[in-house]
Parts: sequence; structure tokens; C-alpha cells
Amino acid sequence: MKNKVFLNGSIKNDLDAKVSIFDRGYLFSDGIYELIPYFNSKPFLIDEHYSRLTESLGMIGINNPYTKKEWFSNIDNLLQNCEFENFYLYIQVTRGVPENTKDGIMREHAATKKYNTSVCMFYSEITNLVERNISGKKAITLEDKRWKQCDIKSISLLFNTYAKTLAYNEGAFEAILIRNNVITEGCSSNVFIVKNNVIKTSPKSNLILPGVTRSFVIDEVIKKNNYKIIIENFSEDELFESDEIFITNSTQGILPITCLNEKDINKGLCGDITKELYNIFIKYLV
Ligand code: PDD
Repeated sequence: MKNKVFLNGSIKNDLDAKVSIFDRGYLFSDGIYELIPYFNSKPFLIDEHYSRLTESLGMIGINNPYTKKEWFSNIDNLLQNCEFENFYLYIQVTRGVPENTKDGIMREHAATKKYNTSVCMFYSEITNLVERNISGKKAITLEDKRWKQCDIKSISLLFNTYAKTLAYNEGAFEAILIRNNVITEGCSSNVFIVKNNVIKTSPKSNLILPGVTRSFVIDEVIKKNNYKIIIENFSEDELFESDEIFITNSTQGILPITCLNEKDINKGLCGDITKELYNIFIKYLV
């Protein structure tokens, strides 16, 4: 069966879903997105993802077109025919198309008009983290050249996609970004290091996306299980000299980084603390 998608209130076959080329999402990346993972057919941290969606909308002044109840009912409708047990739900909300185009102006930088907000949702299968063998990946480091509002989950991902492509071309899974000698985050993940049994990750700020997985890992996995964590900025030297590095995001959960540029971390093996945290984490997914 073909996957279904949600577009502005209707459920459609994926190839039948069409959006206007005058949508400000298409012309200016004027929109935000969310990605909610489902493991064993259950949404993971959906309320937290929903909160971030509303916060991001608020930060760029796009009206939330639905109430929370309507959102959840739209999601239920879309997922009725979903055959996957492990998948992500992608949600995109753009400012949309001007309500009135009688003046003939179809593209204008300033968002001065009334717009019909556009919402699309689709789903895609992902790995079941519970059954996955946790194995380390390579990352590269790169200067963080993004704008300074990285806390908005904007669909404008040009730098992130550019950097991730560079990483892939070097056989790496992620690019870890550095701004003024401070590690910010990965292109699509938050970064943690471990040194002498103490875990460190950067604080929430406008320079990182407040990862839903990051918060869950800090509060439920690390703190509740009495691991030591310091939430403060750390440098490139600290990153390279760390005993363990791991990244977090919605589709990967916790993922060890065991090679940074050309340097092995923990002799190229997943570290003990990362493994322990991963084992605690996946218990929440079953
Ligand atoms: N990205 N930082 C950035 C820049 C991200 O794009 C993401 C997630 C994260 C982790 O956030 P979360 O734990 O809420 O997934 C951090 C998603 C997975 C994506 O763009 O596909």
C-alpha cells in the first residue's frame, strides 16, 4: 500500500499531495517542523514535541492552525493505515500562501499579509532501537556557520544539510559544530561528552536546538540514575580529549561517536557509560 500523507486537512496518497509554488515555505523556508518518533507503534515524548512545535511557531509568528486536540486527531487519522511499528512522523507548518493575491505580488520578503497556513505530515520507517546493536559512528568537526536562532526548529536547514553532506562524503555520520571554540551541537543531534565519569553537554540557548531526546536523557536517564552531569559549554579540546562522546536525537536515541575526524575515541569502541545510558534509555521504548 502506498503511504498516505496529510495536507491541509485531507489525507491523500503521497503523489497526489500538491502545494502551491507561492507557499512561503517553498520560496523562503518560512516555516517550522517537528519529528516525532514512534517505537513499537507508540509515540515517544509526543507532548514534548508538540510543545516545541508551538514554541517554534510562536517564535516566528505563525499562527497555530489547530488546537492540540485537532492536531492529535489529524495525526490519528493519518496513522490509521500506517503499517510500520517503528517510524517517525514528520510535521511541517509553513506560513503558506497569501490569502489575497489581487495586488499581483506573489513573492515579497516581508510577511505583511494574511496567509493560509499550510500543514503537511508524513511518516517514514526507522530502525527499532531496542533491537539495534549499538555501534559507534564517525563524526567530523566543522565551524558552526548557522544564524543565531538555532533554537527555532526552522525548515531552513541549508547549513545543516550542507555540513551533513560533507560528513557523509568523509565517511562520517555527523558533523559536530563549533562556534568560537564552543561545541554547540550536531547537524541533527545534541552532543554529550564523558570525562572521568562526568557527563557534559551544552546548556539550552539560542545556539542549539533544545532536543527533546536531550532533555529526556538528562532528566530521566542520567539524573534519575545518579550519573554525574554538568550542563555547561565545552571546548574543542575537551571534545577531543573526552573518554566518550555520544549524540542524541529522536530517531537515533543515544548514539556513540567513536571516531572524531581521524582520531579514535575510547579506542574506537562504545564507552561503558554510553552503553549503560543506552540500555536504560531503550527500556522506555518497549
Ligand atoms: N533533528 N539539533 C538539531 C540541529 C536537530 O536537527 C535535532 C533533531 C536535534 C535533536 O532533537 P530531538 O532530540 O528533539 O530530535 C538537535 C531531527 C531528528 C531531524 O531534523 O530530522
